Amino acid sequence: MTDATRRHDPGRRGFASDNCASVHPEVLAAIALANEGHQDSYGDDVYTTNLQEIFRRHFGQGARAFPVFNGTGANVVSLQSMTDRWDAVICAASSHLNTDECAAAEKVAGIKLLTLDAPDGKITVESLGVHAWGWANQHRAAPRVVSITQSTELGTCYTPDEVARICERAHSYGMKVHVDGARLANAAATLGTGFEAITTAVGVDVVSFGGTKNGLLFGEVIVVLNPDAVRGLLHLRKAAMQLASKMRFVSVQFEALLGGDLWLRNASHANAMARRLEERVRGLPGVEVSRPVQANAVFARLPAELTRRLQGRFHFYTWDVPTGEVRWMTAFDTTEADVDTFAAAIAEEVRAA
Ligand SMILES: Cc1ncc(COP(=O)(O)O)c(C=O)c1O
Repeated sequence: MTDATRRHDPGRRGFASDNCASVHPEVLAAIALANEGHQDSYGDDVYTTNLQEIFRRHFGQGARAFPVFNGTGANVVSLQSMTDRWDAVICAASSHLNTDECAAAEKVAGIKLLTLDAPDGKITVESLGVHAWGWANQHRAAPRVVSITQSTELGTCYTPDEVARICERAHSYGMKVHVDGARLANAAATLGTGFEAITTAVGVDVVSFGGTKNGLLFGEVIVVLNPDAVRGLLHLRKAAMQLASKMRFVSVQFEALLGGDLWLRNASHANAMARRLEERVRGLPGVEVSRPVQANAVFARLPAELTRRLQGRFHFYTWDVPTGEVRWMTAFDTTEADVDTFAAAIAEEVRAA
């Protein structure tokens, strides 16, 4: 047996995505703790059993937790379990579901997506009426679910009241509400609430709860809050290739994250680093912070040449080529020094320009 070789520079930091971050040491330690002896497979292990109580504590006594591998899988399986073959899901045009999941909802789940313009990433209750009609019309996919993202792809958060109003309106149409909560922890940290207050208590039916972006190695959990909103979830999870055989290693990570306050420490820190970056760059000539910073993302518009030079030094994505908008994301392991170094580099390039 040979030792593995470290093939990357551990000092390299970027602002491309919270997916580029490392794994929190407490999560790695939890995996190591679970890594002894045999446990039953496919969720019949003690960690997955224990996870049910942890999720009930965070989401209310009716919550049921179904671990999966990734966020796209969580969305596909959630939405498939909430719909019939002829149904449609309403979502923001900018949602990850619509733009960044290779049409998995359409291809794997066979769901028609009906998109709404949502300039700040948030669907408004008023806009639901654009698609929420014609359920009995055989020529039309029937809108059955509203899917919102919390925090949104544009770094904004729905207030509990906004979620409540969407749920109320959707339910009044006989529709259900799904939350893509890949970054629900970042939203809860910003809003100063727990998870129950922004989901169960305001009428959400099902959540794709994120772990990967908040310090896990991998893993997400489908949280069913309303048992009447889903059908066949266990079979659908397997058929969608999202059933982990060694599930204990997914579940124990969530125990590390949610058993204490690690979820909040990680998310609050990532959010604080985004606010710090915003403060450092706001007011620099040619740099316009383009959206409210309410989670762990900073969006800014820069001249293309400035972006090109900065991207030669740090990894981050151009979000919108025509407008020159870029996205800078922070994570639990972004340090104050990382932010200050990056902000100083931006200021340097601005001066050079
Ligand atoms: C809001 C949102 N939902 C879902 C996902 C999908 O996660 P995964 O890449 O694990 O499939 C992402 C990933 O970036 C995301 O940002």
